[in-house]
Amino acid sequence: MSTPTTLIIGKNAKTGSRVDALLTRMGHPTRAVSRSTTPAFDWEDPTGWAQAMAGCRAAYVTFQPDLAVPGARETIARFIATARQAGIEHLVLLSGRGEAGAQQAEQELMNSGLTWNVVRASWFNQNFSEGFLIEGILAGEVALPAGNIPEPFIDADDIAEVVVACLTQPALANQLFEVTGPELLTFQECVDIIAEELQQPIEFLDISAEQLLQGLKAEGLPESVLWLMNELFTVVMDGCNSRIETGVEQALGRPAKSFREYVRKTIAQGGWQTEAVLEAQAQ
Ligand SMILES: NC(=O)c1ccc[n+]([C@@H]2O[C@H](COP(=O)([O-])OP(=O)(O)OC[C@H]3O[C@@H](n4cnc5c(N)ncnc54)[C@H](OP(=O)(O)O)[C@@H]3O)[C@@H](O)[C@H]2O)c1
Repeated sequence: MSTPTTLIIGKNAKTGSRVDALLTRMGHPTRAVSRSTTPAFDWEDPTGWAQAMAGCRAAYVTFQPDLAVPGARETIARFIATARQAGIEHLVLLSGRGEAGAQQAEQELMNSGLTWNVVRASWFNQNFSEGFLIEGILAGEVALPAGNIPEPFIDADDIAEVVVACLTQPALANQLFEVTGPELLTFQECVDIIAEELQQPIEFLDISAEQLLQGLKAEGLPESVLWLMNELFTVVMDGCNSRIETGVEQALGRPAKSFREYVRKTIAQGGWQTEAVLEAQAQ
């Protein structure tokens, strides 16, 4: 009997792309989708969901823009109903910590009757190399609120391995894994580690949430992004998530990777390679 196809929401996303690569390497067929694929998958257009799901038996679900946004729980409930009709039996949901909306969406899945996993993750390391902080790192200046709130940043490679374990090991079914990195670091400390490893000065400016929002507004970002950034830097980054959890070890039997390991790996893979960095490395 052939292995059933796994649907991955987020073909080019930070964790979706990694889950896709790992499953493919293991010989499991996948269908990785987003708004730019064929078939397409758009969280804002449920009419296309069934076509994207057709023939799949499991799915890795990453919501956009964030499960904290109003209406996310209802959208997830609709997604679960469509998945059930399409014959999907197992859903693995990527969730966030300290977000009321995210925890409501988790409940929708846990009570659905389908086989489920929740992978509840801290802030990703890859925000510094593949996300909204990359421009600041490259420009040598990162300006953020919550500079002194410690967070156990996690490597997206670790998240992907936990998700793949959930999708491929029946013994892990119907469990929640709260995954974080192995240490608490402030944004300032993360920036300092990147600067040290790159041998480049990167300044950290501790600004207020209002200053961040004013800057983003001036760049022309939409209200929905401003709402989410305010939520992330005031509600989520208020210190309530400043604790380490052991979900990586529980699922994989090994500890989570450190932030410095992530930085070294990213540099080795060619990340953050500006002219100044290349010059410093050549000396
Ligand atoms: N980043 C973190 O630190 C963090 C921490 C915990 C949890 N999370 C959760 O992880 C998930 C991913 O977050 P992320 O910000 O890091 O993004 P990401 O994984 O980098 O995903 C970005 C991708 O989402 C796709 N996308 C955007 N809007 C979409 C839509 N309406 N429908 C379908 N696909 C869409 C885009 O591809 P196309 O343009 O091709 O559609 C893009 O490649 C979110 O649910 C977030 O809450 C993130």
